[in-house]
Amino acid sequence: MFVSTLVASLLAVAASAQELSSQLTQIKDFGPNPRNVEGYIYVPKVLQAKPPILVSPHWCHGTAQQVFDYRSWASAGDQYGFITIYPNSSNVADSCWDVSSNGSLTHNGGGDALGIVSMVRWALKKYGGDKDRVFVTGTSSGAMMTNVLVGSYPDVFAAGSAWAGVAFGCFAGDGFDVWSDACATGKIVKTGKEWAALVKNAYPGYHSFRPKLQVFHGTNDTVLYPQNLQEEIKQWTSVFGYKQTRVETTQNTPLQGWTRYRYGPKFEAYSAAGVDHSIPNQDDLVLEYFDLKCNAKGNKQCYSRKSGSRT
Ligand SMILES: *[C@@H]1O[C@H](CO)[C@@H](O)[C@H](O)[C@H]1NC(C)=O
Ligand SMILES: *[C@@H]1O[C@H](CO)[C@@H](O)[C@H](O)[C@H]1NC(C)=O
Ligand SMILES: *[C@@H]1O[C@H](CO)[C@@H](O)[C@H](O)[C@H]1NC(C)=O
Repeated sequence: MFVSTLVASLLAVAASAQELSSQLTQIKDFGPNPRNVEGYIYVPKVLQAKPPILVSPHWCHGTAQQVFDYRSWASAGDQYGFITIYPNSSNVADSCWDVSSNGSLTHNGGGDALGIVSMVRWALKKYGGDKDRVFVTGTSSGAMMTNVLVGSYPDVFAAGSAWAGVAFGCFAGDGFDVWSDACATGKIVKTGKEWAALVKNAYPGYHSFRPKLQVFHGTNDTVLYPQNLQEEIKQWTSVFGYKQTRVETTQNTPLQGWTRYRYGPKFEAYSAAGVDHSIPNQDDLVLEYFDLKCNAKGNKQCYSRKSGSRT
């Protein structure tokens, strides 16, 4: 099986030594988890009254520990009082997420997606979390899982941020650990309507709030070809009922050569010129997008499923 890895490049972005108030802790018995995904959680010593929850699934061949070590979510959690969940794949072959099974691609249908959502539901209860401020972000396989989670669980998440991933359902296949070469190499091309139908069929009859989403892709990605950015754009603009025409274009943001295209209030796509699959992390941009620096004290309105526009 062809399997991508960007471990070396991701790990090269070394985190500065973190002085944390707490530690990464394994959670067990958190609810339905048919694929035995392992759950890890970082709960800062000082939390907001109703702490937001961030979920950060790893890349292929990655681990929860590596995401914990090399992303700044835990230290940001210390500063802003939110919880981070780090799921750990139990897929022995390559630690890629199950973004292919009908289970993951169906609301409450099973697969890795249900295991991860069970962790969220457990943590919301255990820590009195804010069910309107649950977020998901990841790179590569973690970005594919981000697309899957916001697609299958629009009732759980407030927003997603997907870095070098593929559209919801692009890896769909018979089984839990399907690597779709056709999707990876940009040969799965559908209309927006066809892509949106996959998302809508994941949770038939759901017509309520959908999480906002931002997607990122390098133009020189040879692991998941940049065509996948176009497919994500078609899919999510169609889900939100936006035209495929950009309403706003901003060059050189957040880095030189990156262009941000906005299609409507709830969907934006970044194309990073010359960047390959090891797209550089921009943790601060993600924290801002999720409004995770906002502390909902008093009457302060932070971005949430309540404050965000419905479609
Ligand atoms: C996650 O899974 C990997 C591979 O099975 C394992 O090496 C690692 O210890 C697990 N736990 C964490 C926190 O990453
Ligand atoms: C997918 O899973 C759902 C929920 O478990 C089930 O109702 C549906 O029949 C399945 N579809 C296929 C094609 O297996
Ligand atoms: C990106 O790909 C183009 C076209 O193949 C090539 O000319 C360019 O040198 C590449 N850029 C980088 C930074 O590798």
